[in-house]
Amino acid sequence: MHSEIAHTRSQAESEVAAVSTEQQLEEFRIKYLARKGAVAELFERLRVVEASMKPALGKLLNELRTHVQSLYDQKQSSLYTTSTKPDELDLTLPGRSKFRGTIHPLTQTINEIKSIFLSMGFGVADGPEIEDDYHNFEALNFPADHPARDMQDTFFVSQRALLRTHTSPVQIRVMEQQAPPVRVIIPGKVYRNEAISARSLFQFHQIEGLYVDKGVTFSELKGTLVSFIKQYYGSSLKYKFRPTFFPFTEPSADIYITCFICGGKGCKMCKQGGWLEILGCGMVDPKVFKFVGYDPEVYSGYAFGMGIERIAALRYGIDDLRLFYENDVRFLSQF
Ligand code: DAH
Repeated sequence: MHSEIAHTRSQAESEVAAVSTEQQLEEFRIKYLARKGAVAELFERLRVVEASMKPALGKLLNELRTHVQSLYDQKQSSLYTTSTKPDELDLTLPGRSKFRGTIHPLTQTINEIKSIFLSMGFGVADGPEIEDDYHNFEALNFPADHPARDMQDTFFVSQRALLRTHTSPVQIRVMEQQAPPVRVIIPGKVYRNEAISARSLFQFHQIEGLYVDKGVTFSELKGTLVSFIKQYYGSSLKYKFRPTFFPFTEPSADIYITCFICGGKGCKMCKQGGWLEILGCGMVDPKVFKFVGYDPEVYSGYAFGMGIERIAALRYGIDDLRLFYENDVRFLSQF
C-alpha cells in the first residue's frame, strides 16, 4: 500500500499542474477528494490491513489527504486571481449597482446660499480658523470685559491664539487687505465652548456677508437680505426685522421669518412663537472702519451673519443638530 500512496501523491501533483480551468479543477477534486475519490478509496482499504500496520499507514494517508487538499486550495486561489479569458466573460451578467454618495446637507445649504449671493454680485472670501484676539474681538469693537471673551465661551489655543467664535473676523481681514468697495460673503467653520446638545454644537458653520462702498444705506441691506430670504425660502414668506445689538454694527437687527412648519400658528420648532430668527445684520459700526483704516465719513456698509446648521435644520425640519455630524447614511441619503 505504501507504493500506491506514493503513486497517488505524485499523480495528483502532476495532474494539478495541468489544471487551467475551473471545470478541470472540479474534475480533479472529484477524482481525488470526493467521497468516492482516490484518497477515500485508500482509506477504505485501510480497514482490511493488518492491525499492526494501521497506525503507520493511517498517518501516511492523513498526510496524503492534507497534501492533495492543499494542492487543490492553491490551484483554486491561483485560478481566481489569474484574469479571466475574454471568451469566458459573460457580458450578459447584470452589473453590481454602486452605492452613490450624496453631497452633505450642510455643504448643499452653503452652496445654495452662496449661489444666491454670487448672483447678486458678491464674491467669496476666506480666513483662518485660528484667530487672534484682535481680529476676533478687538477690531470688531468688543469691549475688553465682553462676556464672549471669557474662557467659558471661547476656545483658547494659547494666550494669544483662539478658535474663531464667528466668521466676522474675516470682515476685518478683508478690509485690511483691500480698499473699498468690498462685497463678499464668507462661509466657514466657527467654534464655541458649548456643551453638545440637540440645540448647540461646539463647532458649526456660518456665512458672513459684508458690503462697503460710498453711500450704502440700511434700505440696501434690507433689499438685499429680503431678496435672499425670498429666493431661499420662497416669496410668500413673511419676515420681520427686530432691533438688537452687536458690537460691530449700529444699528443692528435680527431677521425673523414666519415658521414654515406651522405657518405662524405656533409649534415645537418655533417654540410656539410663530417666528424663527434666521440671521443677524446691521450697518458696520464706524469704529470698525477706524480699525481697518477706512474713513467712516466717506464710506458706509452693512454686514450680516447666519448659522448654517440652524438654517438647514429649520428648512428641513430637523430637531437635533447633532444629526449633521453623525454621518449616518440613513440620515444623509435623504438629501
Ligand atoms: N457674528 C455674529 C454671531 O456670531 C453674527 C453676526 C451678526 C454677523 C450681525 C454680522 C452681523 O456680520 O452684522 O453671532
